[in-house]
Amino acid sequence: MLIAGNWKMFKTPSEAKTFCRSLRESIGDVEGIDIAVCPPYVSLANAIEELAGSGIDVYAQNVHWAENGAFTGEISTGMLTELAAAGSIVGHSERRQYFGETDDTVAKRAKATIDAGLKVIACVGELESERDANETEAVLARQLAPIVQQVGVHERLVIAYEPVWAIGTGKTASPAQAEEAHAFIRGIIDVPLLYGGSVKPDNAGELMSQPNVNGALVGGASLDADTFASLCAAASVVA
Ligand code: 13P
Repeated sequence: MLIAGNWKMFKTPSEAKTFCRSLRESIGDVEGIDIAVCPPYVSLANAIEELAGSGIDVYAQNVHWAENGAFTGEISTGMLTELAAAGSIVGHSERRQYFGETDDTVAKRAKATIDAGLKVIACVGELESERDANETEAVLARQLAPIVQQVGVHERLVIAYEPVWAIGTGKTASPAQAEEAHAFIRGIIDVPLLYGGSVKPDNAGELMSQPNVNGALVGGASLDADTFASLCAAASVVA
């Protein structure tokens, strides 16, 4: 089981340092699960330094497919490797919604990251309007198709199901809704599947108990070290 905290655009380099120090303390003897944090680019180096030897992985939130080039604002896999980042998230719904990310560019980012020897958390998920129109499965199948084609099942690939209507809204998918979507995704690609969308310490146990839910991608509840540590502890009980 993997519990990953996506910090989004929160925490400066010095805040990352302070957070990681207290996370190491708060996480104590939580065992049996993998833990990762995903800071913004400028805070990666500090997080990696502070978490060295802790077993907690540090991922970027996005990465480009080219080795280098005229791509203002982008970061390459080589840059992440030199920092000793473990991998990257790709295709988060906020990238898709606000920054023009497409199903194809997500797959290109995922493939380059896997090819570079790094780990990938590739995100998929439907909008509320798509769920209401009964299009959830069609959307997931469409988003997954290029990932299946370009990457396929790989030991360093994880898929995160994040229904957009559940992100930052406090409207968590019910364990049954999460399980249904995960079972559908598993039928398309059999890799570890994380659920994301308003996961908190008090709902993590039930969500993580679903047979096809193999971890969580956590936003808001990953920003406080004690809260994130208790969420990890709740997950470890059912791991
Ligand atoms: P919240 O946990 O804040 O809903 O965010 C989920 C998410 O987008 C993680 O990537």
